[in-house]
Amino acid sequence: MEELEKVKNQIRAFVEVCNHKKSLDLLDKLATGKMLRSKLILKIAGVSDESIKLCAIVEMIHAASLLHDDVIDEANTRRGKPSVNALFDNKTAIMFGDILYSRAFTELTLMDKRVAYTISNSVTQLSIGEMLDVDLANTFNTSYDKYLDMIYKKTGSLIEAAAKAAAILAGLDENKYALYGKNLGVAFQMIDDILDITQDSQTLGKPAMLDFVEGKVTIPYLLLHERLENKTKLEALYKKELSAEESLWIKEQMNITKALEDSITQAKEIGNIAINAVKDEKDSETLVFIMKAMIEREF
Ligand code: FPP
Ligand code: MG
Repeated sequence: MEELEKVKNQIRAFVEVCNHKKSLDLLDKLATGKMLRSKLILKIAGVSDESIKLCAIVEMIHAASLLHDDVIDEANTRRGKPSVNALFDNKTAIMFGDILYSRAFTELTLMDKRVAYTISNSVTQLSIGEMLDVDLANTFNTSYDKYLDMIYKKTGSLIEAAAKAAAILAGLDENKYALYGKNLGVAFQMIDDILDITQDSQTLGKPAMLDFVEGKVTIPYLLLHERLENKTKLEALYKKELSAEESLWIKEQMNITKALEDSITQAKEIGNIAINAVKDEKDSETLVFIMKAMIEREF
């Protein structure tokens, strides 16, 4: 997609302003992701200098958050490539995250005030979401509400803000697009949590079945735990390095109890809330398409 190339060029131009070769070299080391946030912004706001800048700002904030997240999660791979913390060290990942994040914010101050407020405010939510995620991983969480609140903040808030800011740029009904973005984001994270169980490491570009080992009780585990009559075996596997047999047992139980199937249904229902929010807007078919493709993705 030609316009995504424009976004990548804009990111590079924003980093070139730093006049710091190491930052540009590190930028080249980052694997590009699906650019869901940019696709969304460009769909809602169309392609213009302002919308491309907004995409670049949001992608840089997202990249910064992942650089920090990989330090926090001690992850060695990101999008099928070695993470910056693995390739260099934690310090480099944190500092490069800070550079991307602050460059994005400087550019944000030059944009429409409502756009700047919407995006910057969501980054506080994103950061709180990450802290909730870490805190929830301390002990076996059995609260669906806490899980939902955490994934909304960690993943939904920036996607919500991206859709809302794009609607502001385009003079569209910002509340409808915010609702679309919020639910797209929550469904996106649920699918991410489901793929952790259903896909293999190669497809994911990161180790599979890692969430539970890291203490993250995601929706399929929440439903499984709720439905198992004898919960002690599952509880004993919490935060443990899983053998092939144990992984298989978890997957089997998730199929028998329909925990996986119902998690997918739940993600689809949240996806439908998103679709309903914009169904009467013009060009809503592409937003429906983005949602469906997101639900049906394999990594
Ligand atoms: C990935 O979650 C992490 C996030 C979506 C948010 C991370 C946010 C921060 C670290 C806050 C700091 C923000 C800035 C801008 C510096 P995950 O670990 O569930 O997903 P993964 O499997 O892809 O790592
Ligand atoms: Mg992570």
